[in-house]
Amino acid sequence: MTGRQTRARVLPLDSILEGDCRSVLADFPPACIDLVFADPPYNLQLSQELWRPNQTRVSGVDEAWDRFDSFAAYDEFTRAWLRACQRVLKPTGSLWVIGTYHNIYRVGAILQDLGFWILNDVVWIKTNPMPNFRGVRFTNAHETLLWAAPSRDARPTFQHHSMKGLNDGLQMRSDWHLPICGGSERLRLGAAIEASEKGSNGRGPKAHATQKPEALLYRVILSSSRPGEVVLDPFFGSGTTGAVAKRLGRRWIGIEREPGYIEIARRRIAQVPAAPGEAALLEAPEPRRKTRLPFGALLEAGLLRPGQRLYFRGDRRRSARIRADGALVRDGRAGSIHQLGSLLSGGAPCNGWLTWLYQDEDGVLRAIDELRARLR
Ligand SMILES: C[S@@+](CC[C@H](N)C(=O)[O-])C[C@H]1O[C@@H](n2cnc3c(N)ncnc32)[C@H](O)[C@@H]1O
Repeated sequence: MTGRQTRARVLPLDSILEGDCRSVLADFPPACIDLVFADPPYNLQLSQELWRPNQTRVSGVDEAWDRFDSFAAYDEFTRAWLRACQRVLKPTGSLWVIGTYHNIYRVGAILQDLGFWILNDVVWIKTNPMPNFRGVRFTNAHETLLWAAPSRDARPTFQHHSMKGLNDGLQMRSDWHLPICGGSERLRLGAAIEASEKGSNGRGPKAHATQKPEALLYRVILSSSRPGEVVLDPFFGSGTTGAVAKRLGRRWIGIEREPGYIEIARRRIAQVPAAPGEAALLEAPEPRRKTRLPFGALLEAGLLRPGQRLYFRGDRRRSARIRADGALVRDGRAGSIHQLGSLLSGGAPCNGWLTWLYQDEDGVLRAIDELRARLR
């Protein structure tokens, strides 16, 4: 598929577009993407081959897509693709970009210059890093992810409760300890690809030098998008973003300039089972997303009636009567469930839903919040 199809304003969902992301994105309508994950060229500037002590060559990143003539050329490239992503992001959306010390500081400065608002920097600590074979520097054991909103006043999605759930009930921190991609997850070329499709991976050469672990993308996508939303990866490579987006019930779009990688990614994603159809299985409920229900809705629904008594903290001597408009009346004073509750609490803030109780048909006192839950 080419970018031309997006000119018709129909987003090419769940597909890979071949080409340079800077020009392909120019065909997208503005504000149509919920989440961008970008793993751009690192600009590694490798000057010599790297060999292991056992005389095997390290397959690092030495492809044409990672070569730039100068820092200035890399910066110009970075500015162009970031600007293109900023244009297509919705105000509720956000962008993740991953990099190493070679590029992440340049990318971070350009993000800020363009008006992106950095929300976090996350350190991916590699639990099984590649050693520094020549022993001349520290082992490079992490990469940095920048998470940014398209502007300072944007309101990006953050799935706080899903992240807590994923972390056994504790807030997710910004240091992520995950292994690099290996074992049966690592895609390999030739006959091995066929084997991996059947579930066992062979020992051919790596299909992509910088395939990211699915666990990393799982956390990125689950944290900052909702089921059914659109995730864009402008540097799709072997398609890790698409594979995980599909597993998590998100729509996805990949852009990749190398046809060989597109084929690998396409075959990979076709093997991924579809996510369950129920959105409730794909994200934790966020309490603040519950529909706001005014107290008066309980009267309209017939769950309470005008004139009925409510009891402050279950104390039968401190009651108020409900007025037809949802106000509570007591001793000639009227106010909302929160205002009258606060008055009886000596001015302290009061959540009326939890402090006022009604009497059910069995004579038991129950919080009015139970009625609200029933109505929801
Ligand atoms: C670091 S790799 C991404 C790897 C990917 N995250 C994965 O897990 O497989 C960067 C990819 O971007 C592609 N690429 C480089 N420049 C590009 C451009 N201007 N437009 C689209 N793709 C590009 C490269 O061919 C390469 O596959």
